[in-house]
Amino acid sequence: MDERYKKALKAAEYIRTRINANPEIGVVLGSGLGIFADRFKETVEIEYKDIPGFPVSTVKGHAGKLICGSTGNKTVLAMKGRFHYYEGYDVSRVVFYVWVFRLLGINNLLITNAAGGINKEFKPGDLMLIRDHISFFAPSPLRGENLNEFGERFPDMTEVYSRKLIELARKVARELHIDIKEGVYAFTQGPMYETPAEIRALEVLGADAVGMSTVPETIAAKHAGMNILGISCITNMAAGILDKPLNHEEVVSAAKESEHKFSSLVAGIIERWE
Ligand code: HPA
Repeated sequence: MDERYKKALKAAEYIRTRINANPEIGVVLGSGLGIFADRFKETVEIEYKDIPGFPVSTVKGHAGKLICGSTGNKTVLAMKGRFHYYEGYDVSRVVFYVWVFRLLGINNLLITNAAGGINKEFKPGDLMLIRDHISFFAPSPLRGENLNEFGERFPDMTEVYSRKLIELARKVARELHIDIKEGVYAFTQGPMYETPAEIRALEVLGADAVGMSTVPETIAAKHAGMNILGISCITNMAAGILDKPLNHEEVVSAAKESEHKFSSLVAGIIERWE
């Protein structure tokens, strides 16, 4: 059996011994977007370091725990803190949790992140539904022998982000009077922010926002046949758009400012997720 699969099975088995529920939706809470999990009822928390084979997050502002709980009549398994390629993990480690989720029977993934805005109609604090992504600069998590247990060798990427879920998210945002943007998210490896020239290049390629996460995971999730919704919190304008340097503290504090709006939106979406 493939090592990656074997490890994921072990991690899933352990998580099953800790939660006596069958979560239907996996949620990934990005930088400074953690309060959503405070809404959960009947929570079980599992630290990543206790899960066999799980990587441990090293970024400030990223707690490292899985939280299982219920909200809006759905059972949700949330990742509070994720693994980034720039932390030094092999990309198959970055997406490891996606395989574990799949083995736990989770078929739905709501993934969030903080991102820099490239589209000049955006402003910091905006939320953006990810319509598509650009992964040219991301190493593929599917590289190597295909994990046939999850999906096929050459998976289609025509609709990574479910149109049906985007439509649902739009509707929920309208009802909650939350202004919501939509666009293409481009992945960069990080940890350095982009140069202004790189941002101009990404703009030409059709990107509306840029960030250092999410894309490896959604590729693995799509390969495994999951329904995916991605939401970015635009924490800053990307390099060179405004005449000022970027820094991580600003990204985290801008994400925190949008935390309540974001959390209501995610809760509303989950409640009506089918
Ligand atoms: N670039 C890359 N990643 C980011 C940014 C950015 O401007 N903002 C938040 N995450």
